[in-house]
Amino acid sequence: MSTTVILYGTESGNSELVAEDLAADLGGDRDVRVYDMSDFDVADFDTDDFYLVVCSTHGDGELPGGAKPLLEALNSEQPDLSGIRYAVFGLGNSTYETYSQGSEIIDRRFTELGAERVGVYGRHDACDGSLPNDGAVEWARELLVLV
Ligand SMILES: Cc1cc2nc3c(=O)[nH]c(=O)nc-3n(C[C@H](O)[C@H](O)[C@H](O)COP(=O)(O)O)c2cc1C
Repeated sequence: MSTTVILYGTESGNSELVAEDLAADLGGDRDVRVYDMSDFDVADFDTDDFYLVVCSTHGDGELPGGAKPLLEALNSEQPDLSGIRYAVFGLGNSTYETYSQGSEIIDRRFTELGAERVGVYGRHDACDGSLPNDGAVEWARELLVLV
């Protein structure tokens, strides 16, 4: 069975909580592994696996601290991500003009390196008062039926 790899990038912990809830929800049916992006080695990308990227936005449209090491490794090592399939769930707050752009930085880099994003781009808007976890679990369930 292929593995669903959840990569989260966080500054203040919300994306980590989302990743843990996704793993708990999906883990009954699938082999699921969860990594903080800052602990994931780009040499470990595997075309047999499917990647769920969960990433917030900080500063002004920037990556959260936890996602920066992965972006730096992607930029310096330029791995060939052809054959890698992934989906993105971005956390942000639409009161910022740069709503959800942190996740889009990762999405862009993955695509530039040859990976293919599939399914609906999931987003959570902190200004609507909802918890990101529920929306993310619903998003992942609908998406993973298709992949
Ligand atoms: C200092 C600060 C800056 C932020 N900047 C942005 C931003 O530029 N764009 C955006 O969409 N959200 C922004 N946010 C909202 C966060 O992305 C949102 O709260 C998210 O849930 C945080 O997730 P995390 O705990 O995984 O980092 C900002 C939040 C803080 C506290």
